[in-house]
Amino acid sequence: MKRYFVIGNPIEHSLSPELHNFWIKKNNINAIYKKIKLEDTELEDFINKLRNEEIHGINVTVPFKNKVIKYLDKLSLEVESTDSVNTIYKSGKDIIGHNTDVAGFELGLRHSKINVLHKSILILGAGGVVPSIIYSLLSMGCKKIYLSNRTISKAEDIKNKFNEIEILKWGKIPDFDIVINATSVGLKGDSLDIEFNVKDKVFYDVIYNPKETHFLKKAKENGNKIENGKYMFIYQANQSFSIWNNVIPKIDKDVLKILE
Ligand code: ATR
Repeated sequence: MKRYFVIGNPIEHSLSPELHNFWIKKNNINAIYKKIKLEDTELEDFINKLRNEEIHGINVTVPFKNKVIKYLDKLSLEVESTDSVNTIYKSGKDIIGHNTDVAGFELGLRHSKINVLHKSILILGAGGVVPSIIYSLLSMGCKKIYLSNRTISKAEDIKNKFNEIEILKWGKIPDFDIVINATSVGLKGDSLDIEFNVKDKVFYDVIYNPKETHFLKKAKENGNKIENGKYMFIYQANQSFSIWNNVIPKIDKDVLKILE
């Protein structure tokens, strides 16, 4: 039996096991997927279990997406560009780090028919997922990315990786086509201290639980298209699953129910 894990700290909230175990069963694969809370000091030993083939794949979440890099042998281009790993696997003798958040974001947008080609995009927040979103948007040919974060130094750190983006002061709203909330505001029913008085734009929230944050609710009332991060989450899992199992698992109504 193959054994897969998602590692993080905290990890209780992760819905990855539900998704992966659903697809494992659907595809008659002899495997199990579990979540495990680790400390920094346990990372190397845990990754060595993949080397010994005691385990067969690892998903990585906060706060380890960057910290695992030093224990890996090879990195994908997406990891080189974002300094962020969410999927680890063994190929030949090498332990490989990949980042399916990038493809997950793109496939999620395509699923929702949100076209970013030649569009101006405002990103709010500078947390762990933002480099993946930026890399994905750039690869899809967006026109312009503005990045705004309450703590400006964190936005500047991201600009060091992606020089083409423009940093804006928190609260400054440029002319944009799509705005993405990548802050943690909204997770607990709280709301951003920024007001948008626009319509016919796209408002995207990386948060999918709650389904409609205040940011999305208000945007919808004002006549904007809205989308949450559910499909990004599902597609990043879908891509990890296909790397490990050589099967692209189906995304159907039953999969969506898992996240509700
Ligand atoms: P991650 O776990 O994804 O790495 P994080 O580093 O905790 O997330 O980042 C959360 C994001 O939400 C940050 O951009 C944070 O802004 P700061 O860098 O200024 O902390 C943002 N955030 C959290 N609370 C916020 C608030 N009340 N107003 C605006 N931004 C907020």
